[in-house]
Amino acid sequence: MSEDIGNRVVLITGANRGIGLAIFKAFYDSNYIVIGTYRSESGQEILNDIISDESRAAAMRMDVTSKKDVTDVFKKVRERFGSISTLINNAGITHDNLFMRMKDEEWDEVIDTNLNSVFRITKESIKDMIKSKFGRIINIGSVVGLSGNPGQVNYASSKSALLGFTKSLARELASRNITVNTISPGFIKTDMTKKLTDDQQTAIAKSIPLSRLGSTDDIANLAIFLASDKASYITGENINVNGGLYM
Ligand SMILES: NC(=O)c1ccc[n+]([C@@H]2O[C@H](COP(=O)([O-])OP(=O)(O)OC[C@H]3O[C@@H](n4cnc5c(N)ncnc54)[C@H](OP(=O)(O)O)[C@@H]3O)[C@@H](O)[C@H]2O)c1
Repeated sequence: MSEDIGNRVVLITGANRGIGLAIFKAFYDSNYIVIGTYRSESGQEILNDIISDESRAAAMRMDVTSKKDVTDVFKKVRERFGSISTLINNAGITHDNLFMRMKDEEWDEVIDTNLNSVFRITKESIKDMIKSKFGRIINIGSVVGLSGNPGQVNYASSKSALLGFTKSLARELASRNITVNTISPGFIKTDMTKKLTDDQQTAIAKSIPLSRLGSTDDIANLAIFLASDKASYITGENINVNGGLYM
């Protein structure tokens, strides 16, 4: 039986490419009201190409590091679509360097984009969720937040912090019928992993029990499930989607 998702409004950050774009498409195809946010100007066109029904989807520009952008987007969403019920904190960056050489900016930008933004955007979202006594918050972490990785002290720190964020907020909001979970992808085929050479990708695939890099749909499928009523008893969890790379 298909679920009645009524007029649930979903906001996805960094929805113009990679994992965020796959999540945007999955929610749009599942008849949610979907707002995909983007930073680069090309994002508007990419998302508009998918949106055939403007009454239940929109692309809005939001740099997740800008408090003003966040406040403006939430205002626009509330005016046009109503309260947000589901938030997917997906936008993220890497600035890899060995720790000894890591510059202040490389640390600050990664923490601000991957972690501080989650604080900023989630804080805006929960106002609506508390009022409507329903909410789903899904953070996109990383296998590296669990395993660590040389050259990624900044990135791994930002992603492992999401686990503490998820568990603590899940405890705070459970009584309001709001669940908070993290999805930690392994190696997924996107622009982020395109930086790897073919040889590196082959070596990585060999180290993965399921012998392949993941697809963006592997992540989107879980996001759809966690947002659904079928996942109403799951909160404070981290779920690995990594082909067995890290167990
Ligand atoms: N791919 C993987 O193997 C993998 C593995 C583990 C975790 N992840 C996580 O999954 C998430 C998505 O990764 P991906 O592979 O899809 O990456 P991607 O293809 O590089 O896309 C990143 C997205 O984040 C957006 N973004 C970055 N900084 C932003 C900012 N300041 N404001 C707004 N948007 C911003 C980008 O927008 P622009 O187009 O404007 O740059 C883009 O839409 C990230 O949190 C990443 O850490 C990915």
